[in-house]
Amino acid sequence: MKIARTIEELDACKSALGNGTLAYVPTMGALHEGHLSLVRLAKEKGDYVAVSIFVNPTQFAPHEDFDSYPRIENEDAKSLEAEGVDILFLPTEDIMYPDGKDSDIKAGSAAKGLETTFRPHFFDGVVNIVNRLFNAVKPDLAVFGEKDFQQLQVIKQMVEVLELPIDVIGAPIIRDKSGLALSSRNLYLSEDELVTSRKLNVVLREAARTSDTEAAEKALLDYGFDKIDYVAMRWNRVLGAAWLGETRLIDNVAVR
Ligand code: PAF
Repeated sequence: MKIARTIEELDACKSALGNGTLAYVPTMGALHEGHLSLVRLAKEKGDYVAVSIFVNPTQFAPHEDFDSYPRIENEDAKSLEAEGVDILFLPTEDIMYPDGKDSDIKAGSAAKGLETTFRPHFFDGVVNIVNRLFNAVKPDLAVFGEKDFQQLQVIKQMVEVLELPIDVIGAPIIRDKSGLALSSRNLYLSEDELVTSRKLNVVLREAARTSDTEAAEKALLDYGFDKIDYVAMRWNRVLGAAWLGETRLIDNVAVR
């Protein structure tokens, strides 16, 4: 696995690959099985795989966890090497934002509501960085997790509007034995919070069956969640975001 820290190094790594399609997985690191499942799907779909790790400051509000976001670059690099990744791109802030951090593109209508109601800065930050990463990596296809289902819709819309020649592929959510969706933020949960967190998917599945999102919000509070941002139906899914202490968890399930 070649490591690139600048755009020039990235171009050199890409030139060293043979002919074939490049599949790309953008991440913020602290990789778990969920990310590795995206890498495996990327390997299936493309001839070569590039992964980036960049904790993007523009998608965090000042009060959010940008500073404390887990950064375990060496461990991540080992996991990616073991998965047979061809290129690991590790840019710094001055490489990705040489012009400062202003959002040069805005997220489209898919960003309306849900996450945006509670994190108004979030999707503009995501489209800004993903567009910049796409410009740097120039992949043929890119894989994003369905766990961030609204993000996946926002990125698909961005690619369509900007007419980027990139196939955006959604990968199924990876869950632990109890059904908890894997997330880098699960690392923040105490033992007790972990027990409660496992109810999120149970409640969303019930809401997908009954379409009763209000009952779902009440059930989450009864199970011990501290605050519910939303439980809502969209894109034939039930999506939810809820807090346990300082940790915000999101999840979604398909309506059948
Ligand atoms: O889903 C994430 O990890 C991030 O939002 C992404 C897509 C890597 C952009 O920073």
